[in-house]
Amino acid sequence: TTYKVGYFVGSLSSKSVNRILSKALIRLAPPELEFTEISIRDLPLYSPDHDANFPPEALALKEAIGRSDAVLFVTPEYNRSIPGALKNAIDWASRPWGQNSFDHIPAAVIGASIGSIGTAVAQQSLRGVLAFVNARQMTAPEAYIQYSPEVFAEDGEVLVESTALFLGSFMNEFRDHIMRVLTVLPRT
Ligand code: FNR
Repeated sequence: TTYKVGYFVGSLSSKSVNRILSKALIRLAPPELEFTEISIRDLPLYSPDHDANFPPEALALKEAIGRSDAVLFVTPEYNRSIPGALKNAIDWASRPWGQNSFDHIPAAVIGASIGSIGTAVAQQSLRGVLAFVNARQMTAPEAYIQYSPEVFAEDGEVLVESTALFLGSFMNEFRDHIMRVLTVLPRT
């Protein structure tokens, strides 16, 4: 069996280290996982005024999550939380009321920063949001990545073996988590 993973990169930066991390994770993931990026870039800012008539970008976001068996968040830390663009995307997908796209979806969280805290605080903040939207989070292992160009090549090749092993095992655990959640009760 293969599983479709929709992944979010929380950064809009053209030089995003989290985008590099997402490439590394895709390279190191087990063959059962297939990846499609779910873009957050073109979404307008959410307002309940849109609930009766979602714009095409937001409908596309909800459809992309609907086609996914699981979601992966690869996010920077901005001011000890997640970037506004990512929170905006989550707010869109959680609405309109009663049509929350994340309900029961298997999810994992990871992120990279230049600093040694490795997005730990942002990930805790994101986990609070994902708990409320009722995603089934993988809670362990956790992964707080300090980005360095000596470890990550721009194409996502991981140059340090211990890091490659760690990230590969994180993705193996995510596959197992997805299987556990979906085997008990498939998403409809
Ligand atoms: C940051 N950065 C940052 N880093 C961190 O470890 N904790 C933080 O709270 C913040 N806050 C923060 C706010 C804003 C507005 C910016 C622009 C940056 C630094 C951040 O880790 C660094 O810019 C990374 O390169 C961001 O990830 P991407 O965009 O390269 O994927």
